[in-house]
Amino acid sequence: MKIAGFGVEEWLNKWEKSATYDISQSTIASMAMNEALSLDGKDGEDFYKILDQQKMNYGWIEGSPDFKQEVSNLYQDISPDNILQTNGATGANHLALYALIEPGDHIISEYPSYQQLYDIPKSLGAHVDYWHIHEDQNWYPDIDELKSLMRPDTKMICLNNANNPTGTLLDETFLKQVVELAKQSGAYVLVDEVYLPLVHSEEFVSIVDLYDKGIATNSLSKTYSMPGIRVGWTASNTAVADLFRKYRDYTMICCGVFNDAMAVYILKHRDQVLDRNRKLVLNNLKIYKDWIASEPRASVVMPQAVSTSFPKLDIPEDIETFCIRLLKEQGVLLVPGTRFDMPGHVRLGYCADESTLREGLNRLSTFMRQYD
Ligand SMILES: Cc1ncc(COP(=O)(O)O)c(C=O)c1O
Repeated sequence: MKIAGFGVEEWLNKWEKSATYDISQSTIASMAMNEALSLDGKDGEDFYKILDQQKMNYGWIEGSPDFKQEVSNLYQDISPDNILQTNGATGANHLALYALIEPGDHIISEYPSYQQLYDIPKSLGAHVDYWHIHEDQNWYPDIDELKSLMRPDTKMICLNNANNPTGTLLDETFLKQVVELAKQSGAYVLVDEVYLPLVHSEEFVSIVDLYDKGIATNSLSKTYSMPGIRVGWTASNTAVADLFRKYRDYTMICCGVFNDAMAVYILKHRDQVLDRNRKLVLNNLKIYKDWIASEPRASVVMPQAVSTSFPKLDIPEDIETFCIRLLKEQGVLLVPGTRFDMPGHVRLGYCADESTLREGLNRLSTFMRQYD
């Protein structure tokens, strides 16, 4: 099975450990264990007491009953039985595609978005059509273009909502139009939902609350600031969950006793985590907006309080060369837009801690002055 290199991951694997001012990431500033465990006001005393007694066996294969219940509470009408724990959202996307896609299938994927959503189907032998997003339409794709891409045998439409790298949220009205088109061929709609807008989050609607053949993937990595525990999930109807069970046994067995316990703890303190992150996002968004307004070489369609953004940089240089020089000379890391096939842009993650963001943006501006 052949597969393209994962552009963003290859870039980050190579460069992220040498960054001093990493403003490339899409996670909202990750929490240290002591910060996370302080959420219960007891510095994790109860958490460790329970964990102390726990055997480090395989634990609950599909995720503990507590985990499945907490996750099902995030949806209107998805039973805990239909939640399966996975190794991050990456594991969730992989599971969904591995279980459902066969050679010759027709898939439509939002493009660019998270590369798994088009290159895994291709590697499985599917024919993938790109549904392009457009900067002049606030990074929305065009519903008429989806109409023209649909075929009677379209098996799946893949979306990333909100979108990495742009931070744009597709609203309910738009998603309903996608669902109406999907119904024409009975296509699944797989939506990677790892980015929840932290402001007006009620505007976010999960695909599983709109469509029986909707499949949602998600994790604790972005909105919940805990990528290190590697816990994600799929949410779907019963038939799809049963199919996933079969494939899942071959690829992961379980996520681990410790990771499950930590995931349950974070989900039980969800409101506190979201409060923390809402403050951080709002504060950083303001810094970011002020910077954009004062920086003549940068423009952006503002993200919707989602932790990733895709500004355009007006620089007369190949963007990868620029990003490598920026890192080596200023210690600032961005992801060049070439990693999303959009060379005029960079992915800028403005949800690092405040001092990293401020200094990262200052240094980026200083560096761009060389072209004035
Ligand atoms: C859209 C999207 N899905 C999934 C992931 C990876 O998530 P996880 O850490 O849960 O595997 C990322 C990380 O960048 C992402 O942007």
